[in-house]
Amino acid sequence: MRRLILSLAALLGSHAAMAGDDAGEALFDKHCAVCHQPGGIGSPGFAPPLAEALGQRLQVEEGRAYLPRVLRGGLSGPIESKGQRYNGAMPPFATAALSDAEAAAVLNYLLTGLNGALLPAGFQPYAADEIGALQGKPVAAGDNRKLRERIDALLKSGPHAQPLRGSLPPEGAALPLGGGPAVKKGG
Ligand code: HEC
Repeated sequence: MRRLILSLAALLGSHAAMAGDDAGEALFDKHCAVCHQPGGIGSPGFAPPLAEALGQRLQVEEGRAYLPRVLRGGLSGPIESKGQRYNGAMPPFATAALSDAEAAAVLNYLLTGLNGALLPAGFQPYAADEIGALQGKPVAAGDNRKLRERIDALLKSGPHAQPLRGSLPPEGAALPLGGGPAVKKGG
């Protein structure tokens, strides 16, 4: 009984801590969960998971634009997420469907609510007035897939203590490996 009360208290506590995500979660349930499922767990073979699947892209500069671009421009073509392949189409959401403030709330729910463990240190939630700037001019869903590929290549290519700007390093370029020069043991 005591254990039940304790775990109830923990549940209520963690819910209160996430109160800031409530508006974003409600919008997600209304607009996104039909495909991505409540909690963003995804629907195998149809719509990719959004929980514990997106936060790592915020580690690189271009990653910050990726989510607003997908939301506003859609995404289509073959992708892989968490070892599963998808080849569908994410519909674009215009400002008439989701205002910039609502878009920011949904994306912040996705990131801080469902991807907390993957976010880089110092992550700043999206501000409403950032969405319009980041989404750029309306981009084709296929271009967003190329952006996704570029970000994932950047993530694979090395450590990101500093945000990377611009394009990929040239093919075969030497990448810095942590650790510094090997120390030879005297003897
Ligand atoms: C009609 C179904 C549908 C709805 C509604 C939908 N999505 Fe999607 N979403 C998809 C599909 C399908 C993909 C994968 C497209 C592909 O295979 O290229 C996707 C991809 C994504 C991705 C990229 C995931 C990745 O791994 O890069 C994000 C982010 C995303 N959706 C967010 C949202 C948000 C936020 C909403 C609600 C505002 C939403 N989606 C509503 C079907 C949907």
